[in-house]
Amino acid sequence: MSHGNEQIFNPAERVAKISHCSSMEQYKQMYDKSLKDPEAFWGDIAKNFHFEQNVTGKFMDYNFDISKGKIFIRWMEGAKTNICYNCLDRHVLAGKGDQVAFYWEGNDPADAEVVTYGELLKEVCRVANVLKAKGVAKGDRVAIYMPMIKELVVAMLAVARIGAVHSIVFGGYSADSLADRMLDAQASVLITADAVWRGAKLIALKEIADDALKVCQAKNVKVKMSLVVQHMKNVTAPQASSNGTANGNPSKKTHFDDKGNFKVGWNSGLDVWWHEAVKDVSSDCPPEWMDTEDPLFMLYTSGSTGKPKGVLHTVGGYMLYAATTFKYTFDYHPDDVYFCTADIGWITGHTYVTYGPMLNNATSVLFEGVPTYPHIGRFWEIIKKYKVSKFYTAPTAIRALMKFGDEPVKKYDISSLSVLGSVGEPINPEAWMWYYQIVGDSNVSIADTFWQTETGGHVITPLPGATPTKPGSACFPFFGVEVALLDDEGKEVKGEGEGYLVFRRPWPGIMRTVYGNHERFETTYFKKFPGFYCTGDGARRDKDGYIWVTGRIDDMLNVSGHLLSTAQVESALVEHPAVAESAVVARPHAVKGECLYCYVTLAEGNDFTEKLIVELRNKVRTKIGAFATPDYMQLAPGLPKTRSGKIMRRVLRKVAVGDRDFGDISTLADPSIVEVLFQHRPKEGKV
Ligand code: WTA
Repeated sequence: MSHGNEQIFNPAERVAKISHCSSMEQYKQMYDKSLKDPEAFWGDIAKNFHFEQNVTGKFMDYNFDISKGKIFIRWMEGAKTNICYNCLDRHVLAGKGDQVAFYWEGNDPADAEVVTYGELLKEVCRVANVLKAKGVAKGDRVAIYMPMIKELVVAMLAVARIGAVHSIVFGGYSADSLADRMLDAQASVLITADAVWRGAKLIALKEIADDALKVCQAKNVKVKMSLVVQHMKNVTAPQASSNGTANGNPSKKTHFDDKGNFKVGWNSGLDVWWHEAVKDVSSDCPPEWMDTEDPLFMLYTSGSTGKPKGVLHTVGGYMLYAATTFKYTFDYHPDDVYFCTADIGWITGHTYVTYGPMLNNATSVLFEGVPTYPHIGRFWEIIKKYKVSKFYTAPTAIRALMKFGDEPVKKYDISSLSVLGSVGEPINPEAWMWYYQIVGDSNVSIADTFWQTETGGHVITPLPGATPTKPGSACFPFFGVEVALLDDEGKEVKGEGEGYLVFRRPWPGIMRTVYGNHERFETTYFKKFPGFYCTGDGARRDKDGYIWVTGRIDDMLNVSGHLLSTAQVESALVEHPAVAESAVVARPHAVKGECLYCYVTLAEGNDFTEKLIVELRNKVRTKIGAFATPDYMQLAPGLPKTRSGKIMRRVLRKVAVGDRDFGDISTLADPSIVEVLFQHRPKEGKV
């Protein structure tokens, strides 16, 4: 990775002028206070929220040192609150009921809707009452598999209101992935929708969910209800898909009747239409007062063993952290219109589409579609339409749009923008510069936000009114976050240098456990360096103290900002009877950041045919999801293993890019395999 662009960009004048934190001096002062006296720092912030009962025990308590016993993190012991109440009731009671919470913008530009805080509160209470009537109680897990529609926000807040735990599964995951997650969480209710158009593609969500429910049933996990939003009735179908299939998706012919109505299979006794369920239900539902350390949600993220981990966040600390990072990182003010393009199915959507903005009483855009449909200027069109001032997207989207040049951006007046955020992977300086100059007209502040599903919110980020930024650097730690870089022996790298990126103490938003497996939480994040939370990323600190995250140092890879483990993909591939063994590595990709490069060793008697390659790609799609489809598939007559049998992935990464400079391979059991692998490289662009 290049050391980036060392040019420095000062905060945009107009942002700094009104900022919540408008200078580095102020940042340093606040940061120091957050470390020296976390109780005073976060206690002041907590005063802005409603607590039904105040802290009675320790404000913060933790153990990060596994050699001293169990790892734990606790904030605001004894306090009681409800995050849904803080997102909705608090604002409505303050007279903000008529304020727009979301401008919903459909996949098709013809579809749009406005929803206020007051309306959301009523709908949330109705759905909360529907769940309660089904016997969903505090602590129960509710799986959510939905498109980007307001009902998704309603569903998660309704679950939180009654003290249940939501487990949202991104709508691009396959039935197998959904089933795995529902089984692990032992979810008793599923909330989904009939289907959704994503660009010109139809995603038949209910059909996929039904397949997942069959798997749950077969494993004796009892699901009480599948609550289904009828969404297709209200949306405009893409012209291009009126006949035929797109990318293997079922055609309109099979999914729509003669009158153009979307058809769904129905399991009576299990399926309930959302609109029917809420019809005669009270819009009043008192919130469940929760202990601050009660679970709020779990969200599965890839683990290096291949089995996804249910990252668990709790009510109180997450609430403070989501709200505070949103306020400072985007420098949010009441007249802003904010637009985060992430799907709520990922952590970015949890924290920065729903909770962060709503806790701040913000007005946001909720976008159902994709950046390039029906045209490549879709983001800019939306920004112009709603006069968006704060925009948050991923480097992969920026790179994809950059390819079309400046013209599609310049067509729209998007001068309302003042802060542009980036998340999900390291942003390359070229993409940073394009974002700044072309999208931001060199009159914005850029916030390259580093964080993880596990961290709950931004942990390293510039503040747009204070931090002079360097393209490619996430800059400095957020309040309460104490960064360290460690070498292989766990020795701290002070000053300039590179190492493992770790944190020395908890901030309020850090995850508390892996659902159902606390030991896995301890070994994954705390075992390598006792006393530290280990991110799994590497980072460099430059002479000015700026942090440059260099990417994963474990067997994880980041495809279009989605974290995958190589083991997860390998286990999908070896399920195919023709595959004896496989090894998957990341290969750099111009738009996706990284893509999957798969090596497969075939079982005796199989040929590496085009047909097999298609089958293998499909295997990964059905086991994980379409976003994980491999870009490269290569035959490997053997894999480069050390004498102890460990695959030397470094060599595979070199072969993947055609680089013969692979350093010392003397520990390989059979060094000649490297040349064999070179000879089997697929031609560029061919899988
Ligand atoms: C990577 C997404 C560099 C990193 C919020 C991390 C980043 C993983 C950045 C978490 C960034 C995220 N710069 N790398 N600004 N943001 N990453 O859990 O490798 O989906 O560990 O959370 O994404 O991915 P996750």
